[in-house]
Amino acid sequence: MIIAIDGPVASGKSTAARNLASSLGFSYLDTGAIYRALTLMARRLALDVTDSATVRAMLARAEVRLDGDHVFLNGEDVSDEIRLPEISNSVRPLAENADVRTFVKDLEHALASGKNVVVEGRDMGTVVFPDADTKIFLTASPEDRARRRWEELERRGTPQDYEDVLADLIRRDEADTTRHIAPLRQAADALRVDTTGLSADESAALLLATVRDKLEGL
Ligand code: DC
Repeated sequence: MIIAIDGPVASGKSTAARNLASSLGFSYLDTGAIYRALTLMARRLALDVTDSATVRAMLARAEVRLDGDHVFLNGEDVSDEIRLPEISNSVRPLAENADVRTFVKDLEHALASGKNVVVEGRDMGTVVFPDADTKIFLTASPEDRARRRWEELERRGTPQDYEDVLADLIRRDEADTTRHIAPLRQAADALRVDTTGLSADESAALLLATVRDKLEGL
């Protein structure tokens, strides 16, 4: 069984999807981590990511493995490094590359094969798992998402101005929703879960209740 969760940046997807997976006893697949790992590889090699032959050659040498919360790139644990802001800010060219999207989609299919899994990303319900048993579009207002991200940065000891966090988030929303390939959008048969005004725990509880209702009706 596949539960597909899509939504914009800082919608609380990762926390909620992780909690959902552990409540249901499902595996969890964070697909953004794969795009992040490939971006890290390209940056380390200082590749021209706008050149399709260069990107294809990189993909031929890329091995991304997900193990629980850990992400391995060619055998090296890069779980922390892929979360750095310079990675978040340079994913776009690879996320828009058709060869990259095919590479990642094949990997996602392989990782989900034969499992009960919660998959989380931008194009799970629309492109990668169009036949998923349950599809959720998890969202919240830009201001709310920016506030959560701002609080997280404060907690981590890397504070930033709220206005900068909001502007960055709006830029990333724009990149995710306007790209010509696999843009972020709600699948026609997805349930919309809006967590504006809710805490992380409340969001996770709302998601769990929504999915339980859906599964009972299947
Ligand atoms: O969910 P995240 O912020 O870790 O994702 C990192 C980037 O990867 C995000 O900028 C968009 C891209 N992404 C994507 O294009 N498709 C997905 N299914 C998941 C992520």
